[in-house]
Amino acid sequence: MLVAAVDSFQKCKEADVVIVPCWQTSKKALPVTEISLPEILAPLELGDFQGKEGEVTFVYAKTHQRLLLLGLGQQQQLSCEVIRYAFHVAAKQCLEKKCIKIAVCVPQFPGQKEQKANLLSALYEALLLANYQWPKRDRPLIQHLQFIGILKKDLDRFQQLQKVVESVHLARDLVNESAHTVTPQYLADLAVQLAKKSGGDLKATVLDAAAIAKNKMGLLMAVSQGAAVEPRFIILSYTGKPKHKDHTVLIGKGVTYDTGGLNLKPTGSMETMRGDMAGAATVLATVAAAAALKLPCNVTAVVPSTENVIDAKSYKPGDVFTAYDGTTVEIGNTDAEGRLILADAISYTLKNLEPTRIIDLATLTGAIVIALGDGIAGLFSNDQDLTQSLQRAAEASGEAMWEMPLYRHYEDKLKSKVADLSNVGGRAGGAILGALFLKHFVSKDIPWAHIDCAGPAFLDKEFRDMPRHGVGFGVRLLIKFLEDASC
Ligand code: BES
Ligand code: MN
Ligand code: ZN
Repeated sequence: MLVAAVDSFQKCKEADVVIVPCWQTSKKALPVTEISLPEILAPLELGDFQGKEGEVTFVYAKTHQRLLLLGLGQQQQLSCEVIRYAFHVAAKQCLEKKCIKIAVCVPQFPGQKEQKANLLSALYEALLLANYQWPKRDRPLIQHLQFIGILKKDLDRFQQLQKVVESVHLARDLVNESAHTVTPQYLADLAVQLAKKSGGDLKATVLDAAAIAKNKMGLLMAVSQGAAVEPRFIILSYTGKPKHKDHTVLIGKGVTYDTGGLNLKPTGSMETMRGDMAGAATVLATVAAAAALKLPCNVTAVVPSTENVIDAKSYKPGDVFTAYDGTTVEIGNTDAEGRLILADAISYTLKNLEPTRIIDLATLTGAIVIALGDGIAGLFSNDQDLTQSLQRAAEASGEAMWEMPLYRHYEDKLKSKVADLSNVGGRAGGAILGALFLKHFVSKDIPWAHIDCAGPAFLDKEFRDMPRHGVGFGVRLLIKFLEDASC
């Protein structure tokens, strides 16, 4: 991607399109910079283009290839969210017309310095995030961006944002790619590769099936019993603040395909289950981005990875297994596999990785999708400060997340007559029960958050600026969290 600062509209004649953002006013729409081309003025005068949020109209002027009027809504209502949505729509419209060289008239944003910077970042990030396709055909993507009215120093920040977006795209690819390709070994190879490419900033450790057995991760072993491919336990560490003890551990659910196991999912519920490793994709991509950005923080991705499939060797409802930390668990339902492998990952982290805080990301329950819909992730946490920081990061990144209760009186529902815990406790409040199961494995004195992203990790069809299928949900949120935590 070539990105340049240009000082005038007149100098963008070679661009395939010039995006001209406009405010909506009580009278006619108003371009953000003064442009006196008569071709532009006509749709404004006639009221054909009103400048509503995300409204677009192509106009053809003699002096340029194309112009795209883009509505930003009313100036007083401007927010990063509006910018993200509008520029997402603009980028999609441009790609439809096969425009690969795009110029943008950048508005003089209102507000304080920080607010201005955020709006500009949102604009740039929206264009880059929209510049993605799956399957990867040779459809053209944006290759050139020219910004009219920005400063040279803004370009440095763009470069940083580009690295974050690359990681989002990596997470999307991993989710979108077929499950016969993205296996536990594939994720492990990726971690090793990322470490190699990082020139020493990242360190990858992979436990294979034998090492997992030797470590007695009984729950991860149980889920993987029926799988044709071996499980992997993957650790990818970035140490950006070597002299400090502070250490965020991000645990990602890495179920590379979830059939439900012997409690088989019905037709209609299984087709998208290659996306059940979205948590893993996000934490690996986040740590890769943290290293690329050289963030001053210590962060590790931990990924328990296996398939959950049917075989003569599959683990069975009614079986009891012993977890890594010694807890015995009765299997009430083999489709509640995510919490099992995450439990072992949490205990392993506590015992071996000296975490200051743990954040897990998982496509854990269908119930969270019923509760919040597929645009919003659920946040459960035992710590108010961590909750607040994560919510701030979600707000700033435009990734929607809503707090859910860790209602302790429901813990009794997870009781078992034959073991310390059952992995299910009935249908009601299913997302909370999943979170409470995990909480059992977290020590009380460590801040922990569980993000159930079963909704926004994978979409049947695109929604606002979120693409169809793999969304890469959480990468930007977590990077924002790590940036704020490290300053
Ligand atoms: N991977 C699923 C959750 C899921 C559902 C993700 C829909 C994305 C979209 C998880 O392993 C699962 O099957 N959960 C069960 C738990 C139940 C058996 C307690 C569920 O939600 O039905
Ligand atoms: Mn399942
Ligand atoms: Zn699952």
